[in-house]
Amino acid sequence: MLLKSRYCFLLLMAIASLAMASLDAKQMLEAPRRSSVIANFRGDLGIFLESNYSFKDHSFSSGIYLVNSTTKNHQELLVPGKESKSPQWITDHSFLYVKDVGDSRSSIFVFDIDSRSEFGLYDHSAPISELSIVKDSGRYRVIFSSVDASGRYEPSDHSNVHVYDSLFVRHWDHWKTGERNCLYSIILEQDSENIRTLHSVTSTATDLLKDTGLECPIEPFGDSTDFDATFNELVFVAKDPHSNPATQTRTVVYLLNMTTLKLKTLSTAMGACSSPIISEDGSKIGWLEMRTPQYESDQNQIIIYHPKTGKKQHIVRKWDRSPASIQWGTLPNGEKGLYATADDEGRKNLFFISMKRDIVIPLTKDGSVLSVSNSNGPELWLSKSSFVRPKYFVLYDVAKKEEKLLLDANLGLKKSSYEEIWYSGTGGRKIHGWLVRPQNFNASITYPLAVFIHGGPQGSWTDTWSTRWNPAVVANSGFIVFTIDPTGSTGYGQGFTDDIALNWGGRPYQDIVRGVDYITSKIPYVDGSRMVALGASYGGYMINWIQGHPLGRRFRALVCHDGVFNTLNTFYSTDELYFPIHDFGGTPWENRAVYERWNPSNFVDYWATPQLIIHSSKDYRLTESEGISAFNSLQYKNVPSKLLIFEDENHWVLKPENSLRWHNEVLSWITKFVNDN
Ligand SMILES: *[C@@H]1O[C@H](CO)[C@@H](O)[C@H](O)[C@H]1NC(C)=O
Ligand SMILES: *[C@@H]1O[C@H](CO)[C@@H](O)[C@H](O)[C@H]1NC(C)=O
Ligand SMILES: *[C@@H]1O[C@H](CO)[C@@H](O)[C@H](O)[C@H]1NC(C)=O
Ligand SMILES: *[C@@H]1O[C@H](CO)[C@@H](O)[C@H](O)[C@H]1NC(C)=O
Repeated sequence: MLLKSRYCFLLLMAIASLAMASLDAKQMLEAPRRSSVIANFRGDLGIFLESNYSFKDHSFSSGIYLVNSTTKNHQELLVPGKESKSPQWITDHSFLYVKDVGDSRSSIFVFDIDSRSEFGLYDHSAPISELSIVKDSGRYRVIFSSVDASGRYEPSDHSNVHVYDSLFVRHWDHWKTGERNCLYSIILEQDSENIRTLHSVTSTATDLLKDTGLECPIEPFGDSTDFDATFNELVFVAKDPHSNPATQTRTVVYLLNMTTLKLKTLSTAMGACSSPIISEDGSKIGWLEMRTPQYESDQNQIIIYHPKTGKKQHIVRKWDRSPASIQWGTLPNGEKGLYATADDEGRKNLFFISMKRDIVIPLTKDGSVLSVSNSNGPELWLSKSSFVRPKYFVLYDVAKKEEKLLLDANLGLKKSSYEEIWYSGTGGRKIHGWLVRPQNFNASITYPLAVFIHGGPQGSWTDTWSTRWNPAVVANSGFIVFTIDPTGSTGYGQGFTDDIALNWGGRPYQDIVRGVDYITSKIPYVDGSRMVALGASYGGYMINWIQGHPLGRRFRALVCHDGVFNTLNTFYSTDELYFPIHDFGGTPWENRAVYERWNPSNFVDYWATPQLIIHSSKDYRLTESEGISAFNSLQYKNVPSKLLIFEDENHWVLKPENSLRWHNEVLSWITKFVNDN
């Protein structure tokens, strides 16, 4: 029997090690992709979207799923199909969702959980993207966002041309055409207890932003966190109509009476406001506010506005983190306040903010929190992820600070495969990084090092899952991945973030040099003679900068994705001009010395390390000429180099087939050079 059980044990070990062997790019791209989970009012059921890509079928399959708090780790498919999205609870056992019905039209459907059946409520003549529902004694108001094409520029002849006479000709990945996002509202009523009697009172939706010229949600990443409502009032953010959107970050918080469509301006800050929220009784309105004009990474301050008195309160002023979003919440002891998530030392952590006590209570520390639902209950529904776990859902007991698993996303990756490190950077400041090892890590051999440099530059390598720049995938192809958060990164106090301004190739470069020194001297399983560095966006700028500086000679190969080659050209060709204006202290003609000082193209003379360049044609932030210029320089100098152009991608390579090719090219490039003798 002993033999047999030992045999079983060995077999189990073999199966386990097979399952854990390693996650490659293909498996990572085929893993389920989930939206955040949304709990119903009672907090016992949740809904979410999931989609899977198949390299066999070359397509996504997706659907709306149910998760039940009493049955652990089980998901039930309710609505299959890619065209169904944006589910929102309307009662505890029914939800609305949007179905794209073709011809750029959308319908709003209601799904009844008890009968597992659905029916249509409302048809809209344009695509709908975000839904939000507010209840008022038996009636519901549904607010949704859609596109208003009435301002679209149409040439009067048979030409095909974009014509402009003012700034902001394109944004992120599309040309500006005069279309804008708008908010609409419909009223629903129910004749009896039976959800089947739910119907729309209005046959056409009210255009809530009619004649205002305002756009909400704000392009290109705006979503339902750009607005919030009671039954009668809507609070939302929009770009300031009196500022140029290409040169100013200013967004304004507005309050709209949805009966009279009378608009009131609430905020006065010259920077960007975001995450507006209104309490259920309308007595309090909150938002996040940046104060420095033209600075997209200024610290978000939390403002609470009291409509009755007109008073504004700036709370938790001393908190040195920049919350990404806020929402109303209640602690188990009944205390009301706000839940907020913020970058915090390499994680996205959850905090409770007490208005009464004016304090911030840190909550989670493990993995990252991506969203919070059921925020007035004693158990929050959190959507989380980490470097080794795609999005998973937990019930978080706020009083005990403990979590219970609701729905996992386990790909068999080991939590022990990564750890955080701190080292001393420029001026003795502590710098944070993550060290990610392969799944089949063997401490008695040495590995090549892959240094990851993030974009932003005001960003962070947070302990989250991503299908782009996934450290586990690169580690599993035989590297130790070292992610660095140098000066300019977020989550370490605003001063640390601010210090990259006017200093792009200065302190951050020195922090990276010190990080590489630290790893090669302190980590025995890293082979310092076999190192590569990779970066995108600002990280790609840094790769081009490193190429022209001594650190470049220590790497066997470099990878630059959508990077900056020429800071001057970047200023003239980018979409959001305020960004270089802030980070370089003005325009090139006002502050040319700073642009020249930190311009990678001024150091091409020294370029000598093999480099892979990747750029995408729809990247209107950093245009493809940056990538082509860097490639031409490398080729002219006979430095081994390769250029990939993705014609149908933006700043990010998102399509799974393109992404697989991206991974194969990047991994074979870095592997080849670390294996050459
Ligand atoms: C995605 O794959 C998982 C199993 O890996 C499966 O449970 C789920 O139903 C799939 N979802 C879709 C939308 O195909
Ligand atoms: C949730 O699970 C409980 C316990 O298994 C069950 O009684 C209930 O019917 C489930 N709810 C739904 C909507 O499936
Ligand atoms: C909206 O305006 C109407 C008409 O003036 C008024 O009766 C109502 O109280 C206003 N709603 C709110 C929430 O202020
Ligand atoms: C780890 O590497 C050593 C040295 O190459 C080798 O002898 C050993 O078998 C390896 N261990 C495992 C578990 O692969």
